[in-house]
Amino acid sequence: METVVVSIGGSVLVPDDHDNTYIIKLAKMLKDVSEKVRLFVVAGGGRIARYYIKLGRDMGADESYLDDVGIEVSRLNARMLIVALGDAAYHIPAKTFDEALSASKGHKIVLMGGTHPGHTTDAVSAMLGERAGAVRLVNATSVDGVYTSDPNKDPGAKKLDKLNFKELLSICLVVGGGAGPNVVFDPLGAKIVARSKIETRVVHGRDLAELKKALLGLEFKGTVISE
Ligand code: UTP
Repeated sequence: METVVVSIGGSVLVPDDHDNTYIIKLAKMLKDVSEKVRLFVVAGGGRIARYYIKLGRDMGADESYLDDVGIEVSRLNARMLIVALGDAAYHIPAKTFDEALSASKGHKIVLMGGTHPGHTTDAVSAMLGERAGAVRLVNATSVDGVYTSDPNKDPGAKKLDKLNFKELLSICLVVGGGAGPNVVFDPLGAKIVARSKIETRVVHGRDLAELKKALLGLEFKGTVISE
């Protein structure tokens, strides 16, 4: 069986837009897909993480502490998907890659959130992809692909169907170290998929038909990043 890692942003899982209906449908689709591929899912923190991070920052918490807050929230979001997946999923978000790999031996879908301060769950999904020998990494996000500039701000932004790893790295480095909603992939995640040449697919996570195609390695509407 091929191994696939999917990173689902918090902005896709819990934007407060019919989240329960979406998560239930997502879980059903992931169960179908897991009949065909070994599946790992990494959940992001989204607006709830940003809320707590801002609250803590306003009260003077240091940045590493706030990263830990973001990690805790991403694990809570992973738990919501575990609820919907039921017996098909390992019962808790794995805290380490070793735990995730051991858990997947039971043929369950394994969920993770964040791991360590200093990066985002994009980097976690890339590292998990390396460790698990994934053939592809799917980044399910709140935009339908990689654009030449921010499509929300620039009406002339063009969607790119394909990118190579060098181009991905140059985009991520131009943006700089700070992660945010319009950054395609965090720089560490980009470095890791590039060094291990893991095909990376960017797709709108709320479009379940396209997400399913992206997971199964079929043609889909989005951006493919490869060699
Ligand atoms: P996310 O991965 O959700 O980051 O982690 P993001 O890109 O800001 O969110 P999306 O893509 O819009 O949903 C949330 C925060 O948790 C901390 C970081 O502070 C990150 O910004 N975090 C997460 C870590 O420090 N380490 C991790 O491994 C994961």
